[in-house]
Amino acid sequence: GGGIASGLLLSSGIHSLLSSCSPQPSTPTKTPAQNTVARTPNPKFIPDLEINLKAAPKTVQLLSGQPTQVWSYAAELVKGDPNSLQAIPDSYLGPIIRVRQGQRVRVNFQNNLPQGQPSIVHWHGLILPEDMDGHPRFAIDPGQTYVYEFEVINRAGTNWFHPHPDQLTGQQAYAGLAGVFIVTDPEEATLKLPSGTYDLPIVLQDRTLDANNQLLYLNSKIGTPRNTGMGGMGGMGGMGGMGGMSQGNSSQSSGGMDDMGGMMGFLGKQLFVNGQPDFTLAAATRVYRLRILNGSNARIYKLAWSNGDPLTVIGTDGSLLTQPVIRKYVMLAPGERLDVWADFSKLKVGTQLALNSLAFSGAENVDENNMGGMSSSNAPELGAAMTLFNVKIGRAETETLQLPSKLATLPLLRPEDATNAAQPRPVELSLQGMKWVMNGKPFEMNVATPQETVKLNSIEQWEIINKLNPGAMMDAKGMAHPIHLHGVQFQVISRQVLPELAAGWQTVKDGYVDEGFKDTVMVMPGERVKLLMKFDKYSGLFTYHCHNLEHEDAGMMRNYRINT
Ligand code: C2O
Ligand code: CU
Repeated sequence: GGGIASGLLLSSGIHSLLSSCSPQPSTPTKTPAQNTVARTPNPKFIPDLEINLKAAPKTVQLLSGQPTQVWSYAAELVKGDPNSLQAIPDSYLGPIIRVRQGQRVRVNFQNNLPQGQPSIVHWHGLILPEDMDGHPRFAIDPGQTYVYEFEVINRAGTNWFHPHPDQLTGQQAYAGLAGVFIVTDPEEATLKLPSGTYDLPIVLQDRTLDANNQLLYLNSKIGTPRNTGMGGMGGMGGMGGMGGMSQGNSSQSSGGMDDMGGMMGFLGKQLFVNGQPDFTLAAATRVYRLRILNGSNARIYKLAWSNGDPLTVIGTDGSLLTQPVIRKYVMLAPGERLDVWADFSKLKVGTQLALNSLAFSGAENVDENNMGGMSSSNAPELGAAMTLFNVKIGRAETETLQLPSKLATLPLLRPEDATNAAQPRPVELSLQGMKWVMNGKPFEMNVATPQETVKLNSIEQWEIINKLNPGAMMDAKGMAHPIHLHGVQFQVISRQVLPELAAGWQTVKDGYVDEGFKDTVMVMPGERVKLLMKFDKYSGLFTYHCHNLEHEDAGMMRNYRINT
């Protein structure tokens, strides 16, 4: 059907409306000729793994009844170990790509999405040269191919990939485009960690499906008309249905709440794990390695086992920790990953438990009265308690693995090693009109200011400052923002919060796992977070942005340049 296509074509018109409403000098709008580079293979590059990866519409059976139209990455092995490529069956998600450190990978990415949907793949977590990293300036049009050729230099860890076109990342990822990229290395191989079927990616995503089982994105059925003070923006970001429902839904679009959806981020009604609703892990009495990825557009989770056991964390974002960390609960914001040692060996066959998200507060610091209530979509609010998936212990197995006391040797930096330890480089998050911005500016495709330029091989501290916006439009005083840096892995060295926001912060702060290397960091309203990093790999122009995908699409993204 042409349902998806028409729904999304509608949305590209809406996006240009969005930029024309912007109070800022508008971001260069992509036109086919302008920001399109179709990269061809380099005959001198000899890959040991080659994959064809195609983004295209697909139909999957998600719920009983009508099948669901999605967009999905279809992968095909051209060269290399067949185990490097695993599908997630009957899912919109996937594939899972598994590589060893040092492997040379070629990916022939083909954009087969409907017209009006340029795309490019970002390998979230991998450290890559600028033209391999999926910056929006490299987005290709439907019908074009971009050839990636890179060497994997990352440490063992759980990474992922997803689209990264300017202003369209949220809807493309939501429509189903995402996969997992797992790296292993010789050091990890010496550890006795669960492997094979005991090493499982767990991708958490929330979705809203309509009565015909089609995906809804920033659905405008909710709420009441509202004067945004920027006349003519009704329906901004609203897409109607992702599949077949566009007319029906847009006729119900009265504006207002879609603006809020774009501003606050999309929250879905239903939880999908690995692309499946009501996911249940059928487990044995043994240890599992769960590589949990928050692949949601905007929802933040507070992970905890239902039986009160703490979580044993062995890795975060792109690498293992130096030693396991035990937490009652762990926060996981969009884009972040968590490597969990899940020990079911002491449980009895027949036991059932769940991985839950516990309630927390303060991530949306808004005046609900003034906003008509964000819960009117019937989706659980940000911070609402929910069950993520169930675990059923169905069979006995004898476990011999033991939690290693030492994991990875990490070249951790000391705060005083930074050239700017006394005055960290500030990154201020604030609200301008209806848009979240960084250092007062929205995204500009090819620009990095002198304040956004660093030197190759330098060690720096950055301070992310999530400012309060008193008197902001609709009293959105603040929101939690997961900030992601491309091109570098960082350490989180300190966190502070404004005293007036300490109450909400108390409900999340013990769930930060800041011990290792990260590429995405959750920053609560009123929180200041200091990062420490070394730009020691590649020079070039990279982005850093909020991984709340609606924020990113609305311009909460900037470039920074690593100069030689
Ligand atoms: Cu996962 Cu720039 O994003
Ligand atoms: Cu944000």
